[in-house]
Amino acid sequence: MADYLHFSDEFLEHLRTRVDLVALIEQEVTLKRSGRNMVGLCPFHEEKTPSFTVSPERHSYRCFGCGAYGDAIEWVRQRQHLSFHHAVAYLAKQCGITLPQAENSQQTQQDRKHLAAVYQVLQEAARIFTRGLDKSPTARKYLEQRGLTAETINTFGLGVVAKGIIHLLTERKDALLAAGLAVQGDNAAVYDLFRHRIMIPIHSESGNLIGFAGRTMSKRADTPKYINSPETELFHKANELYGLHLARPAIRETGVAIVVEGYFDVIALHQAGEQRAVAPMGTALTVPQARRLLMHADNIIFAFDGDAAGRKAALSAAPILLDELTDTKTVRFLFLPDGEDPDSFIRAHGLDAWQSQLDQALPLSALLTDYVSSSASGIDHNIPESQVAPARRALAILARIQRAPIFARALQARFENLIGIKMDGLC
Ligand code: UTP
Ligand code: MN
Repeated sequence: MADYLHFSDEFLEHLRTRVDLVALIEQEVTLKRSGRNMVGLCPFHEEKTPSFTVSPERHSYRCFGCGAYGDAIEWVRQRQHLSFHHAVAYLAKQCGITLPQAENSQQTQQDRKHLAAVYQVLQEAARIFTRGLDKSPTARKYLEQRGLTAETINTFGLGVVAKGIIHLLTERKDALLAAGLAVQGDNAAVYDLFRHRIMIPIHSESGNLIGFAGRTMSKRADTPKYINSPETELFHKANELYGLHLARPAIRETGVAIVVEGYFDVIALHQAGEQRAVAPMGTALTVPQARRLLMHADNIIFAFDGDAAGRKAALSAAPILLDELTDTKTVRFLFLPDGEDPDSFIRAHGLDAWQSQLDQALPLSALLTDYVSSSASGIDHNIPESQVAPARRALAILARIQRAPIFARALQARFENLIGIKMDGLC
């Protein structure tokens, strides 16, 4: 890991988009166009009919025969037996991109050492938290009451913290602060951020431990339900999706990603067999999160509570989705019966009932149509005044759709029908 710590996500993303993946792979494999993708014989296993697919759009390749999967960096690693770091350097050179920092400079080495120490302290903390469960009947009972099995607790790495862990790790105060496990008071003293909580480790998409969420076990109103790691060098909550490292294979396989609101929603769904669930970190969906999802999935389904807050959350995700949507993607919204969240729903009703809820999820277009209609107390095609407010909303929506021309046209037709005026020339 220490090998690539100093490449930022931005740099790697930039590199992936700059590399001509098709040309790179065509150096070794003959590819033919098939729709949006290129296909050929898989170089990773023996085959007679092509099941190896390259998606220029997703900057990735995948074999449906043997499961080989990756991006340009992974390709170079595999084919040329290079380390991650050397694969990145190789590709950067090919594309004429300069590496962010001179290799092996003193600064880089220091940064690497520092980040390695931060990763290490996070992992050490996670081990202490999970071992804490052995000593805490209260925590075990809490998790049991939430219906979680030992296997799930293990898969998600759940643990517990009692009075704190700093005293166990005193020799690495800087790393503790940088890892976001400790906070510094005014008098330079260092305190535990997490105390008396169930601990939920948060991983990056590639599976690195980058932070924690801590849930209180008490019902007292004067303590926040969750405390999350602060922003650190490793943890940027707006970029991450909880559970994505575990959900990615199922998302890829089915082309569907399911976005829920809470950590425990993700955990309960996975346990029940719905392994495509991920969650933002307690905020509305962000642009990087939307992009990440659309990179892996063609269909995104948001599952919200059926209450007003759920509707509001759906509407706050909509603008971002409109910006990012292309004509090959769909977005739908599932509103659960009032008072239920995905966690309670799947535990009460099971996987089949969940699946039939998913089948009934509302398309984005329906949500937007409701939103447009609701701007007037009634749209009367004979009363121009009643058409203006809905038309303004409709136009604002259409203006945001930049990358899905067919969807935009179809939505426009739908709005025109609803409102009763042509919008050409107004868009
Ligand atoms: P919810 O209040 O819906 O909690 O918040 P939940 O996930 O269903 O948790 P349980 O089932 O009551 O244990 C949804 C998400 O909002 C963020 C968390 O990410 C949470 O999962 N949140 C909520 C916070 O960050 N802080 C809070 O105090 C509450
Ligand atoms: Mn919940």
